[in-house]
Amino acid sequence: MNSLMTLEHINMRFQKGGFFSKDRSVHVLKDIDLTIGEGEILALVGESGCGKTTLGKIITGLYVPTEGQIALQGESGETIKRKKRPLSFLQVQFIQQDSYAALNPVRTIYQSLYAPIRMHNPKWSKKQIDTKIDELMTLIGLQPAAQFLSKYPHQLSGGQRQRILMARAISLDPKLIVADEPVSMIDVSLRLSLLNLMSELNERLGIAFVYITHDLSTARYIARRGRLAVMYLGEIMEEGAMDVVLSHPRHPYTRALLKAVPVPDPDARSDEKLPLKSMELSGIEDRGEGCPFAPRCPYMTEQCERPVDYVVTEGVRIKCRNLEEVERLNAARPEGTDE
Ligand SMILES: Nc1ncnc2c1ncn2[C@@H]1O[C@H](COP(=O)(O)OP(=O)(O)O)[C@@H](O)[C@H]1O
Ligand SMILES: [Mg+2]
Repeated sequence: MNSLMTLEHINMRFQKGGFFSKDRSVHVLKDIDLTIGEGEILALVGESGCGKTTLGKIITGLYVPTEGQIALQGESGETIKRKKRPLSFLQVQFIQQDSYAALNPVRTIYQSLYAPIRMHNPKWSKKQIDTKIDELMTLIGLQPAAQFLSKYPHQLSGGQRQRILMARAISLDPKLIVADEPVSMIDVSLRLSLLNLMSELNERLGIAFVYITHDLSTARYIARRGRLAVMYLGEIMEEGAMDVVLSHPRHPYTRALLKAVPVPDPDARSDEKLPLKSMELSGIEDRGEGCPFAPRCPYMTEQCERPVDYVVTEGVRIKCRNLEEVERLNAARPEGTDE
């Protein structure tokens, strides 16, 4: 896999609001290392508030991290170090969760698609742009195009608007699209077709996707041949090939996440409790030096208060000090008898 983007030691701190707390900052992302391969699908999964959107915006160049390096492979294959301002950010497009907010409400869909193409292809005739728009509408499956192009955002369904956002993103020929919870606000019945559209765009156009979600089941679906990165309170806890991680989740948090995914077959469902010590998600602000998952972790020991490095097995990176013990305990217990 050729790498498209490499993130190294990304840290993000936000200044806390309020006049009297000017000096305080919230450490939202902590030491994120991540590589995104050309044409791959990487699912970034984590609970709400863990920093997924922040990381997505850093990948897209919409936020500049407080610390860290981002290297992006340029047109000619050379590596561009991105420090301050995002270079060649056109190669990376961001699709936000709220499709209504993403589109100008007083512009027709045609106008919303036309403007960015015009801006990036100043020499194109109107006819060329119209042809491009027509191709895009076919690609995203909204036909007959004319019927949708004359509408305003509020006249479309959430699913249709998300497709328009896809069209707008691919109109700039990106190498990577970061899709931030693109299906969470649309009807359950339409989710699958939108996920399939993304897979199709990935396969046909070779565009890499970072699919951000709090929902492991859609992540599993779209990135079944790709990779999974599991985030917890601003850190990546486990990352590797989707099939490898799912068939053998190693981090206690990944194990808990997998147990929480609904199983369609009622006979396969178990009544066991989630392997969590506490259901409370602690705040990103009270995180100490050590493992952020420790307060909820059933396997926590004293050493979890100290900073932890990744362990790599089978190409999977895991951030946990007690992996051997977790493995041993789980091997000793037959399936389905977790505490
Ligand atoms: N612009 C910002 N200013 C201050 N804090 C922010 C900002 N954006 C996000 N945060 C904080 O960073 C944390 C992670 O947010 P976010 O990246 O939106 O998480 P997620 O997308 O996983 O729900 C939250 O605690 C949030 O309040
Ligand atoms: Mg978010």
